[in-house]
Amino acid sequence: MFVSKNLAVNEKGHLTIGGIDSIELTKKYGTPLYVMDEDLIREHCRSFKQSIDKYYGGAGLVCYASKAFCCKAMCKIMMDEGIGLDVVSEGELYTAASVGFPMDKVCFHGNNKTDGELSIAIEKKVGRIIVDNIFELERLNKIACKAGIKANIMYRIKPGIDAHTHDFVKTGQIDSKFGFALETGEAFEAVKMAIALDNINLVGLHCHIGSQIFDIDPFVHAAEVMINFIAKIKSELGYEVKELNLGGGFGIKYTDADTPVEYDKYMEKVSAKVKALCSEKNLELPFILIEPGRSIAAPAGVTLYTVGGIKNIPNIRTYVSIDGGMCDNPRYALYKSKYDAVVANRASEPKNETVTIAGKCCESGDLIGEGMPIQHVEAGDIIAILATGAYNYSMSSNYNRIPKPAVVMVKNGSSRVVVKRETLEDIIRNDLE
Ligand code: LLP
Repeated sequence: MFVSKNLAVNEKGHLTIGGIDSIELTKKYGTPLYVMDEDLIREHCRSFKQSIDKYYGGAGLVCYASKAFCCKAMCKIMMDEGIGLDVVSEGELYTAASVGFPMDKVCFHGNNKTDGELSIAIEKKVGRIIVDNIFELERLNKIACKAGIKANIMYRIKPGIDAHTHDFVKTGQIDSKFGFALETGEAFEAVKMAIALDNINLVGLHCHIGSQIFDIDPFVHAAEVMINFIAKIKSELGYEVKELNLGGGFGIKYTDADTPVEYDKYMEKVSAKVKALCSEKNLELPFILIEPGRSIAAPAGVTLYTVGGIKNIPNIRTYVSIDGGMCDNPRYALYKSKYDAVVANRASEPKNETVTIAGKCCESGDLIGEGMPIQHVEAGDIIAILATGAYNYSMSSNYNRIPKPAVVMVKNGSSRVVVKRETLEDIIRNDLE
């Protein structure tokens, strides 16, 4: 009935999250409020991990893409589940390091890492630095030389697959700011350079074909392109690339229109392709890494808001204003992303109304959604926006100097704050005069 399986309705007609009454949560912690279900996060981690065990003999590592939702509690959960981390900035790396995250399980991404970031990655002995371009390679080689070590790197490759069209495009996508192109020979030249450098150890190749993908074929095709490239490197350069990182991008259910595949199926098909190609081309099976972000965090999250003014513009639309908006969830403003909305205190009633949910920012485009089916709604009600666990808190801002909401984690029938609500003092904390 709901897009995420941890949601239900209790005897009071209230929406429950991980078994906890959402209205009680708003009474205890206020709104707007991000709520994350720890049990569901852990379940997602386990299912990705088990799929590698089942179909690929455990020869792989799931690295949670922390850009989806990064905080100390989340890093601790990943650590506890034996999951690695994809970080993309010094800030995400710092968060991971602050909880003692094992650095050998960290992949450091980014198309424009600074010298400072590369130095910290070397200093902290990050397991794999995903090198995006030659400018980065050369600087990293120097930094590693100074430190007297060989840096373990993977190359970010553009496999030439656009998974975002209905019938996914197998070539093109050369126009991306990320990585080295295959079809121009750029990637092959880069491999030759890396192999020749004294302080670089090219352990693997990486690709990421997009996000919120529902089709398995583009992933299988990407794996095929990458294994073929590994084979070319071996036959022409005599160098065996040991690891293959296939990125993230697994789609989730935001509304009933979304039809995600089970994560298991992905690993089943991709493993079969990798194994078949490796035996055909006489290659050792590479160690596989995957980087799910949204699929681990998004379904586990709900945002709770209090309804303020309601404006009915006859024959046009009804605006329902909430006490948050694009400052805590900019995804509709940015991508026209669709969400499911529920009046959390009337969750058992039918969705007979259609409304536009508007935020409180001084910006016409500050909407959470348009044409959203919802229960009858009045001022003072609580609206829940579902599946907001990824790319909401992590993409939030202080636009209009609005403090960021708290993040509450629910687990086993109890709740705790894992990120404090910002205060007005936080808002002016860096102002000097
Ligand atoms: N690995 C790499 C190298 C990536 O660039 C990304 C996402 C991921 C893994 C994780 O992808 P996921 O499993 O979460 O789809 N802000 C956008 C999403 C941007 C994703 C960027 N890269 C949104 O709100 O939809």
